[in-house]
Amino acid sequence: MEALAVFGGNPRVSTSSLQSASATSKRSWSGSLSYTHNLTLRTRHLSAFHGSSSLFSCSPTLSHAKRRARKIRPNIFLPHLIASMEDVEETYIMVKPDGVQRGLVGEIISRFEKKGFKLTGLKLFQCPKELAEEHYKDLQAKPFFPKLIQYITSGPVVCMAWEGVGVVASARKLIGATNPLQAEPGTIRGDLAVQTGRNVVHGSDSPENGKREVALWFKEGDLCHWTPVQQPWLRE
Ligand code: RTP
Ligand code: MG
Repeated sequence: MEALAVFGGNPRVSTSSLQSASATSKRSWSGSLSYTHNLTLRTRHLSAFHGSSSLFSCSPTLSHAKRRARKIRPNIFLPHLIASMEDVEETYIMVKPDGVQRGLVGEIISRFEKKGFKLTGLKLFQCPKELAEEHYKDLQAKPFFPKLIQYITSGPVVCMAWEGVGVVASARKLIGATNPLQAEPGTIRGDLAVQTGRNVVHGSDSPENGKREVALWFKEGDLCHWTPVQQPWLRE
């Protein structure tokens, strides 16, 4: 629908009308995201370049005054921008109870901020047993599962939703290997932890699980969809 609006060059189909259409979107707690939510995810990135952005332009050879005189509307968009927006993912990152107790919250958030990803959700939260079991349900058959649930519910965690192109795989690289002794120096676990059972941080392992986990830990109203001012300095 975006591509239709932009490539079609129809000035009557604006990004703002797309956004208002997406205002009805709903996120379900079961983890499945509706088409309208996906539309919201994508259209809200268009708002970053509304109005004054130089990325939207008429012919560069025409002055603003001449364009006004000729009544040409600026509706040309850079195709690569549309293509890259398709890759925007969300991931669920969680500072585990040991990370909170050891005062590593700021350090861990900072690594994702500095990388250039966008924080859309953040809360300190005492995780109930049922939620921990749902979150790690794929590991239910593992012998360490009871210890894992005990660990995750042993104190408050910091829940985060992050958004960006390739954010799921990149966050896993920033976090490092599950066993901190095998994690590369420079990664969060490589720098800040020594044992698998106390590896300070969680990161979604696929884009699908990123969506599932963000929806599991956050209500739609908890998330903040905003446009960082640095956005044009992160992506060409
Ligand atoms: P996470 O889901 O927490 O980001 O960790 P991960 O993908 O790197 O590793 P995963 O296999 O999903 O395991 C989840 C968490 O369970 C604990 N664990 N303990 N052998 C063990 O005792 C063992 N193996 C895994 C770790 O806390 C691990 O992060
Ligand atoms: Mg995992």
